[in-house]
Amino acid sequence: MRTFPEGFLWGGATAANQMEGGWNEGGKGWSVSDCARAKFDVDVKNYEKQNEITSKDIEEALAHPEDMVNYPKRHGNDFYHHYKEDIQMLKEMGAKAFRFSLSWPRILPDGEHVNPAGIQFYHKVLDELEQSGIEPIATLYHYDLPLALHMRYGGWKSRKTILAFQIFTKRCFQEFGTRIKKFLTINEPDILFMYGGHGLDLDGTEEFKRNKLIMNHHFALAHAQAVQLCHEMIPNAMIGPVFGYVPVYPKTSNPRDVMAAKDLCDVQNTFIQELFLNGRYMERIVMQYEKDGIALPDIREGDMELLKNSKRDFVALNYYKSDTAAYCTPDTPPADFCRPGYYQVCINESLQRTAWGWDIDPIGIRYMLRDVYDRYHLPLIIAENGMAAYEEVKENRIDDTYRIEYLSRHLIQCRQAIQEGVELIGYCNWSFLDLLSTGHGFEKRYGLVYIDQNNESSGSLKRIAKQSYYWYQNLIRCNGGNL
Ligand code: BG6
Repeated sequence: MRTFPEGFLWGGATAANQMEGGWNEGGKGWSVSDCARAKFDVDVKNYEKQNEITSKDIEEALAHPEDMVNYPKRHGNDFYHHYKEDIQMLKEMGAKAFRFSLSWPRILPDGEHVNPAGIQFYHKVLDELEQSGIEPIATLYHYDLPLALHMRYGGWKSRKTILAFQIFTKRCFQEFGTRIKKFLTINEPDILFMYGGHGLDLDGTEEFKRNKLIMNHHFALAHAQAVQLCHEMIPNAMIGPVFGYVPVYPKTSNPRDVMAAKDLCDVQNTFIQELFLNGRYMERIVMQYEKDGIALPDIREGDMELLKNSKRDFVALNYYKSDTAAYCTPDTPPADFCRPGYYQVCINESLQRTAWGWDIDPIGIRYMLRDVYDRYHLPLIIAENGMAAYEEVKENRIDDTYRIEYLSRHLIQCRQAIQEGVELIGYCNWSFLDLLSTGHGFEKRYGLVYIDQNNESSGSLKRIAKQSYYWYQNLIRCNGGNL
């Protein structure tokens, strides 16, 4: 029976802006994430508001450089000072891979000029990984745009930011190309396209929505240039995009609901995948947006050729949940997760949910793997998968049996996908360590390792392995054979 192949990359995932801290140390420049105010008053389902960073937020953030409480991403979980201990725990767990992101403002504080201390920091991280026999998987862009590029060019709205990203990626390939053999380009362009946030909405959510096709076009070009450059500079490395795939099911077998699910799936998943993987705009969706008054991307000579010709080596996928959609009439009032006349997201009665309302759907991960593999026939890596919970330490233990159950049920489905012919080469749990969620502070914990820290960025920062850490350690030891 086919199972996880030999050399399967069992790993843990993280991202610099949610983890590193050391935000103003070692010559690092300001990142848009350093201006992300904690918003515990915002509804957990309101992704757009949770992650919105406006010009006013930036002004306020710049005026309060000492404030770590309202700007928790400045503190992260302090990996910057704990990386040796953290990588030691990763090694003891038996991890074969570690996904982390290279922070652009740490390496190029103003977006374009190099900071040797930033480069040095990642060399030290890579030293630890190398000595531990752990393969690095590095994301080039995980939400931390240098603030300077916002100020100078308006961020991703401008093509100048693509050029700046090229300078950054070239530098990363030059510096780390002999040590890192797997790169991920842009984290979740599809989720960014759907919900914005993370500094894409400097002038507010509505303005972002009007310009989202333009920004997305720039992300796609930045991705394609990085792929080309990587192949030219490090021929033995692999590079690919990371999608945040959310399968969409119809609420009933009524063809109107089936079509509603397809409409949402196309816009949320397939539209961006087709652009990044096949260099093609789905005309129907562009026409829809045009009808809605959304600005069309400025497609210049050579853009589509670049997108078509950039040959990515694998596809990385983040999976947390599925969505369910039903048809809604054209007179339905417009709302989040609803396009009147097309679809409306609704409750899936057959699934349970996390405390943040995310549907727990292990079969969805197999659905995703098969769908992406069948359409693009490229090796796949799960770059994120995990479950958040409120947790506390009791007698020095964290009994996260729910997480063990969540992870094993998802991994059983991954194994089945392999048996069904999918080429899955790795699985990185999100997250190896507790870190800041994108919009819900430290209390939304995903880690296999607990970190003593709260929403106000206070705590001893002590690391404690949860029960899921030991469970994963066993699993890696027998290459998933105990599932
Ligand atoms: C993914 C992101 O979308 O989901 C991560 O790549 C993020 O950065 C993760 O942390 C979980 O989402 P959240 O909002 O719970 O942190």
